[in-house]
Amino acid sequence: MDYSASQQIRTMKPDDLEQVLAWRNHPDVRRFMYTQHEISLDEHLRWFERASVDASRHLLIFEREGEALGFISLHEIAAGGIADWGFYAAPDAPKGTGRQLGEHSLAYAFDHLAMHKVCGQALAFNERSIQFHQKLGFRQEGLLREQHFDCDRYHDVVCFGLLASEWKTIKERQL
Ligand SMILES: CC(C)(COP(=O)(O)OP(=O)(O)OC[C@H]1O[C@@H](n2cnc3c(N)ncnc32)[C@H](O)[C@@H]1OP(=O)(O)O)[C@@H](O)C(=O)NCCC(=O)NCCS
Repeated sequence: MDYSASQQIRTMKPDDLEQVLAWRNHPDVRRFMYTQHEISLDEHLRWFERASVDASRHLLIFEREGEALGFISLHEIAAGGIADWGFYAAPDAPKGTGRQLGEHSLAYAFDHLAMHKVCGQALAFNERSIQFHQKLGFRQEGLLREQHFDCDRYHDVVCFGLLASEWKTIKERQL
């Protein structure tokens, strides 16, 4: 993994709001989210005002050479460092960006925030995200059958988990 100083995870700032909203509303991102309507600037601002002061939430930006290339949310959902994550890369980012975003976000979660476990959920038709989780070392922990309704049909939800100990083993093997 490239830990070069040119790539980093940092906290999302008000200056990032417009960019993150544009990514989130892009059809290639929005169709893989639980809520698929176009989010207004007002709704986005209200979300940020609430979430950015919530100590259990970490709203993060992945950047390379000073350019913001993706958004990551880490949400501590249970005591003992259990977190849910969500993420999207800039839709026009070059191939390989997601992988870097994932690696750096997990390093941030486990090394910086000392999380015990990171959990992810993907809609069953989101093959990219499913493969992405598997490539990063996540294990599938469940399949929630017809758990999501998109106003037209039901979709299964695939649940993933990665433990800090598993992450450490993966990193040691890569050395
Ligand atoms: C998921 C996402 C972050 C991956 O980013 P990316 O830049 O496409 O990923 P990369 O090019 O670094 O590829 C990383 C891995 O993702 C998977 N992947 C990427 N593109 C894929 C595709 N077209 N089909 C299947 N798997 C794919 C592969 O496992 C790939 O590893 P590999 O190249 O070694 O095979 C990005 O596609 C995205 O933001 N999608 C929309 C939002 C989203 O779905 N978020 C997750 C919600 S659960």
